[in-house]
Amino acid sequence: MRATSQAQPNIALIKYWGKREARQNLPEVGSLSLTLDTLWTRMAVEFDERPGEDRLLVNGAPAASMLPRISACLDEIAGEGRAAAAVTSECNFPIAAGLASSAAAFAALVMAASKANGRSLEAATLARLAGRASGSAARSMYPGIVELEAGARDIALRTLAGPDDWPLSVTVAITATHAKAVSSGTAMTISKQTSPFYASWVARQGDDLAVARRAVLERDFAALAGVAEHNCLKMHSVMWTSRPAIVYWSAATIACMQTVRALQDDGVPVFFTIDAGPQLKAVSLPEAADTVADALRRTTGVVDVMCSPLGPGARLLGTA
Ligand code: PMV
Repeated sequence: MRATSQAQPNIALIKYWGKREARQNLPEVGSLSLTLDTLWTRMAVEFDERPGEDRLLVNGAPAASMLPRISACLDEIAGEGRAAAAVTSECNFPIAAGLASSAAAFAALVMAASKANGRSLEAATLARLAGRASGSAARSMYPGIVELEAGARDIALRTLAGPDDWPLSVTVAITATHAKAVSSGTAMTISKQTSPFYASWVARQGDDLAVARRAVLERDFAALAGVAEHNCLKMHSVMWTSRPAIVYWSAATIACMQTVRALQDDGVPVFFTIDAGPQLKAVSLPEAADTVADALRRTTGVVDVMCSPLGPGARLLGTA
């Protein structure tokens, strides 16, 4: 059976940075994110009759460098003695450039692969499987504003507000489309081992999550803006104080931050967040989205701007 599914990337407002345990890839801290709508990855998976070499096509081209992580994820789903699989992926935004492409890819992959393997698993199980491949991927299984709770032995997820419960807009300022030099997985390990700020990052995460959760439940945009920017800058401070230092920002990233600050000074309801890459994501109330997009488009170093409302969790598109 061939199964196809689609998932959207998610953007964390309260970030995940650092692993508690390697085997299950358990995050050390909880996180809170926005699942997007108009950026997507589609994955089609079909298992052969017998073991052999997996094949992967990404946007029509063979992608050997990405295959080991895909194959390891398929092993988790179908067992190590499994048949080989043909995996075809399509993505409508830049890959491995700090736009959560791995979150969307692995959420879509586990859903399509488990279906192609003859199983219909519930969202919590699929999220756990996706999270083993990429910590943030678990969140793309769910719609809207999502909280991931990091337990000692497991993760638990829930949607705090659906896409229509509190409509927010995400405007992504793309400043570079090439893949990042250091993967987030490698960078997290370096941070945990070397940053003198790592322990306090972990210790204070629960406080930030509580403030953000309450802001979402009370639809308090200013409170969410304040804690999200603080949490983002704290994560990047942990990266900057790692040895070797991990700096994902470029001059254009800072120019975009200044654009958001100028909009805020003019009373526009918007705030920024930045992940493991040079892109800036601006979160705003929907009525401000056009103003935000125009301002970011005019910012030096911005090569493209993508806008999205909040969207659904991963879903099955079909079987054949
Ligand atoms: O899931 P990973 O290994 O791609 O790491 C994601 C890390 C950040 O995007 C920087 C933060 C987050 O919570 O998504």
